[in-house]
Amino acid sequence: MHHTIIPEPVSIQARDGSNDYFDYKGLPSIEGDFQHEASVLKAQCAAQLAARDETRNIVCKKDEALGAEAYTLDIGRERIELRAGGGSGAYHGFQSLRQLFLSGGTIPCAHIEDAPRFGWRGFMLDTARYFYSVAFIKKLIDVLSLHHINVFHWHLTDDQGWRLPVPEYPLLVEIGSKRVERRLSGAPTVGGFYTEDDIRDIVAFAAARHVEVVPEVDLPGHASAILAAYPGMGCTGGPYRVEDRFGIFEDVLCAGNDAIFELADAVFNTLVRLFPSSYVHIGGDEVRFNRWERCPKCKKRLAGIGLEKPRELQSWITVKLASMLAEKGKTAIGWDEVLEDSPRYVLPKEVAVMSWRGADGGKAAVKRGHPVIMAPNTEGCYLDFRHCDDAEEPGQWGVSTVYQSYTMDPVAKMSESEAALVMGGQCNLWSELIYAGKIAEYMIFPRILAFAENMWTPQHRKDFNVFAQKLTVHRQRLDTLGIAQYRGRLK
Ligand code: ACM
Ligand code: ZN
Repeated sequence: MHHTIIPEPVSIQARDGSNDYFDYKGLPSIEGDFQHEASVLKAQCAAQLAARDETRNIVCKKDEALGAEAYTLDIGRERIELRAGGGSGAYHGFQSLRQLFLSGGTIPCAHIEDAPRFGWRGFMLDTARYFYSVAFIKKLIDVLSLHHINVFHWHLTDDQGWRLPVPEYPLLVEIGSKRVERRLSGAPTVGGFYTEDDIRDIVAFAAARHVEVVPEVDLPGHASAILAAYPGMGCTGGPYRVEDRFGIFEDVLCAGNDAIFELADAVFNTLVRLFPSSYVHIGGDEVRFNRWERCPKCKKRLAGIGLEKPRELQSWITVKLASMLAEKGKTAIGWDEVLEDSPRYVLPKEVAVMSWRGADGGKAAVKRGHPVIMAPNTEGCYLDFRHCDDAEEPGQWGVSTVYQSYTMDPVAKMSESEAALVMGGQCNLWSELIYAGKIAEYMIFPRILAFAENMWTPQHRKDFNVFAQKLTVHRQRLDTLGIAQYRGRLK
């Protein structure tokens, strides 16, 4: 019998016999190293395996010969041994076991060796278009980590809401976190923000699961919520409102106003305080330049820094924001538009580029020496798209199949040195149409499982037909965990 672990491990060698630990109702005791990770596993399994069976055990050992994320599992008749290079490897090994616990029954004895293909296996949730509860975000991070997803990219700001409290700029949340819900008569106000305690809670919850939380504040476009709170930051001075429509808007931060950098500095200080990740995502997508073309302050700025075209101001801003972050010990990530720079203000090489308008941005970025994360909306990474071409399916813009999530190749048509700059890939869920966590789950699953296997498993071990078979077993695990999922065709 196949072990049905998702993502597929690097190797599984079958051994004689089977282990019946999980026919028992109790979670075995877990001894040795990695007790932090063991305690998380116990908490995760508590709902399924209430009583503890002291007569059976799992033994854990740190093994310096293994990479930080690597693990091995020896599933014998009488005992299970886990070896790992570090806490993250141990965690991944425990999650592979947890998948087997979730199915119950006996487990064929085996020796499993495992380690990831890519280091960045990300998922982005847009919490700006609609607000999601702390409980939902934690549930999601937990189930993502069950599949070795290790980055939670938290889209915290956009035209329709600002979710991050910044002490120096209280109106960002007082005004910027609320908007009118235009779909409903009576135009109720919706929104919310995350308190510092909420953020610390989520970051610690993720860290215990070896998931890094990377915050995004989208600058200088997608800024309506900032402008509604601080109208002086815009070229026209307003009036502005937190957007209650979805789309791309002309009002962006005024490139001629130094106050936008004071605001960015305060925002970055807040992020530095709350997020241990070495990365801060600064957005940079879909900036419209019309306001900059007409604004006297922006024209003055342009002349002052020796640029000609207003659009070049974006690269001047990006370079400035990236260097502000570098001074604070953080590395900037931007959407692939940040690459369309001015020859005068060239993006520093260490800035990472997230390729979303297809893969071309990422390919161009590696040619210029930038680290890249692949999230092409053309190849299975945009989970706001419909699962299949069926009018009954929820979603926007296009179709993005499970098969595409399985087959997107982050290093296609790259040289070895270019491919070495690819950190990995990511799926994104934009939430214009996703007003509830249950709908989000339906859009995420099972595409993220296909994507997790795509990012983790070596190419020669990937097989979509085998994946599809494993999915029939794995779907029941998601049901047990209370996760909604799409069940239609995969291609
Ligand atoms: C994006 O999808 N606007 C990055
Ligand atoms: Zn301006």
